[in-house]
Amino acid sequence: MPFNIALFASGSGSNVENIVRYFSDKPDFHFPVIISNKSDAFVHQRAKTLHIPSFTFTKDDFFDGHKILTLLKEYQVDFIVLAGFLLKIPPTIISAFPDKIINIHPALLPKFGGKGMYGHHVHHAVIEAGETQSGITIHYVNEHYDEGNIIFQAVCEVLPEDTPDTLANKVHALEYEYFPLIIEKIATTRK
Ligand code: GRF
Repeated sequence: MPFNIALFASGSGSNVENIVRYFSDKPDFHFPVIISNKSDAFVHQRAKTLHIPSFTFTKDDFFDGHKILTLLKEYQVDFIVLAGFLLKIPPTIISAFPDKIINIHPALLPKFGGKGMYGHHVHHAVIEAGETQSGITIHYVNEHYDEGNIIFQAVCEVLPEDTPDTLANKVHALEYEYFPLIIEKIATTRK
């Protein structure tokens, strides 16, 4: 039986695509479903290209969690990866997947995390604060934004000439390099 990983994404989904492509020659890992909270997110186009069914749920559905749980059961999901997903995961889903949900945050937690800290807001805040380093944090998901146990961090330099855009590019490069490797490492121990 392959290990079934559901991917959750709210936007472009470049991490989703990078993860699926990384695992494409590893038959032990399967990505049966992509879940979003935005029907117009570009991740749905990527899902079509990748031949993975994708679904959109409303904010209320995410708040409640039951409809999503039903879908996850239908697709026999073992593990959940949040790859650029912006809504909070409800207790219903967290308790059904204990220590089986991970997220990537585009900065070095515990700094620059919490509500409102996503996408360019994070990179803007890092630059405004005069930080000389930023990076990525991969962590378990609990009921509080960005507070679950940290699994892995990687660092990049923040230069005086960096803008939120150039910093986002550096952080994305780290995400593409490390997120699939960390997912593989964790998933291998859970199979
Ligand atoms: C990534 O930087 C991720 O860390 C953050 O949102 C961004 C998503 O990018 N939470 P993409 O949708 O994977 O292109």
